[in-house]
Amino acid sequence: MSTNKEQQAFGSLSPAVMRASTVVFDSLDDFVQRKKRQPDGFSYGVTGTPTARLLERRIAELEGGQHCVIAPSGAAALMTAVMGFVRGGDHMLVSAACYGTLKTFAEKWLARMNVDVELYQPAIGAEIEALIKPNTRMICMESPGTVTMEMQDIPAIARVARKHGVLTMLDNTWASPLGFKPLEHGVDFSIEAATKFFSGHSDVLMGSIAMNSHAHYDVLRETQSILGQQVSPEDCFLVLRGMETLALRVHAQGESTLEVARFLEQHALVERVMYPPLESDPGHAIWERDFKTNGCLFSLILKPGPERAFHAFFDSLQHFVIGASWGGVHSLAAYYPAALQANRPFPATDQPVVRLSIGLEGADALQADLAQALAAYGKALSSN
Ligand SMILES: Cc1ncc(COP(=O)(O)O)c(C=O)c1O
Repeated sequence: MSTNKEQQAFGSLSPAVMRASTVVFDSLDDFVQRKKRQPDGFSYGVTGTPTARLLERRIAELEGGQHCVIAPSGAAALMTAVMGFVRGGDHMLVSAACYGTLKTFAEKWLARMNVDVELYQPAIGAEIEALIKPNTRMICMESPGTVTMEMQDIPAIARVARKHGVLTMLDNTWASPLGFKPLEHGVDFSIEAATKFFSGHSDVLMGSIAMNSHAHYDVLRETQSILGQQVSPEDCFLVLRGMETLALRVHAQGESTLEVARFLEQHALVERVMYPPLESDPGHAIWERDFKTNGCLFSLILKPGPERAFHAFFDSLQHFVIGASWGGVHSLAAYYPAALQANRPFPATDQPVVRLSIGLEGADALQADLAQALAAYGKALSSN
């Protein structure tokens, strides 16, 4: 029977897309000894493919880590990291500004499984020590926080967690490892929604968990496989291709983002820009100390206005398209009504939030687009 040996021998510059549910062996002895003979331990597609392993190695390298496990989405990566280690009876601390799906998972599913879930104020820093209990198992962080962009003092929290034997995970999607390397700051698990910057083209969902500990890797490899969190090799190929241009995109999008944010900060109809690279942002000092890139995502609060003024703003946009997600080459605008914040513990605002993801269209064109959309917003305000 022909095998993929021909494929492996073919010297293509691009990675091979290797599909498999079934993995075959030349002899029963090879099958019985598979774990010893194949360091990657392939025996069935659910544990991954060589294409997936290649992507995992690339991500681990970029994160400055020893190991990586990929999952079918950023959300799946967050849940896999939690499910690998958190059990009924444990206490788990979650930043109030973490990605909403993680909070929902913690509060709806884990809490029902007898996990004591506690949301903490993102700016807590080393004072998180006061919240640690004998059964605290994991601290879940994200910096800057989802939508409201609060910076966290990650090294301080990681130090306290290590001292108490508590695991830490950080959703590092905003910075990417080019901007911040969580593992170098004492965090146990660096999580990326590869859906965003890594893939870069809004056409694939993926997540990754990078780490240094081999023991943690064994747990997460098993968790990934037991939960059936397998990733298609075609999707791995797309993320591998995206990563070839990651540094260029992160740099170019970051430059444009800072320009657009500075422009908005000066605009009469903008009350507040939530973006740590701006000197005016409360998280600026931590961002400047720890981060190397600007990110491409920020939020703003407009001068208060009725719902129809927000419709006028969004519907006037030409370059920005209205849609969830971020980190791709096309600029996106998303709307978060005031109620979402009001229902949050430690809310950052009681106003509606507009979130912008800056792509590669060029800062001038994007500023002009925002200027005319703000003019429409202003017109709707004055016709009140
Ligand atoms: C910060 C952050 N983390 C995780 C996720 C989840 O990623 P995915 O959409 O791939 O599940 C998102 C998605 O918007 C996100 O913004």
